[in-house]
Amino acid sequence: MIDMNFKYKRTIEFLEEQKPFYPQVAIILGSGLGDFAESLNTAKSISTAAIPDYPASTVVGHSGKIHFSIYEGLPLLLFQGRIHLYEGYKLNQCMLPVFLSHELGCKTILLTNAAGGINPSLMPGDLMLNTSFNSLFIKKEMTELLGLASIEKRNNLIDFPSQRMNRIIHKAASDENIILKEGVYWYNKGPSYETPAEIKMMSASGGDAVGMSTAHEALFASTLNMEVASISCITNYAAGITLEKLSHEDVTSTANKVKATFEKLLKRIISELQVDTIS
Ligand code: HPA
Repeated sequence: MIDMNFKYKRTIEFLEEQKPFYPQVAIILGSGLGDFAESLNTAKSISTAAIPDYPASTVVGHSGKIHFSIYEGLPLLLFQGRIHLYEGYKLNQCMLPVFLSHELGCKTILLTNAAGGINPSLMPGDLMLNTSFNSLFIKKEMTELLGLASIEKRNNLIDFPSQRMNRIIHKAASDENIILKEGVYWYNKGPSYETPAEIKMMSASGGDAVGMSTAHEALFASTLNMEVASISCITNYAAGITLEKLSHEDVTSTANKVKATFEKLLKRIISELQVDTIS
């Protein structure tokens, strides 16, 4: 088991020193969705390259910055770019944004990602609230990483994702007239996209969308007793649903087209969260 407090002591100390305030809500911005961070009033931006022991961001569309921002009075911690297993990083490195959010005091985390649509009712450009995750392929590594904490938690994934958050997210979407679909997110470690046979298996097992992040972050956040929610931007049809070849450029270009709607939804969610937290 890895003691994250010990391993990332310098990282925590650095951010404790740099932070302009304690954030309440963390948001991880997925592939092509990072521009949201630029649309807010930022109190402090830090390049992750300047943070001790923070893995370098290598993927296009993940710019490698964290921002302390405020929107409608709610102090936020935004990760513009995430860390993936397919970049060659270890699981504990991929979990770092979640861990740091927790250490800096965030009680709630909103995960966003780009995903391929498996369910035929999902089209590129759709937004999908994640109702659950399939993270079976990473459970063993999670246990190795978390040790006892994950064993204590294993029967405890009841309010996961958070029902309060999902209610807020649905209300925000409906208030903004944004169509928000729902479905189960399947995790693929990558780096390659899925084969059509794998997508068939995921579909038969109840998967609606597939991506290379999020499920392990969600599980870890829950282990840390954080309130978790997650939204996918469907950027493409999953392999074999159409004959189109998948590429990361298509993923970021669709995410870019959805940018305005996505930003509107996130801002409304933050406003709703602020009201719900106060009342
Ligand atoms: N598969 C896996 N990850 C993805 C996809 C996909 O089709 N689209 C965006 N991220």
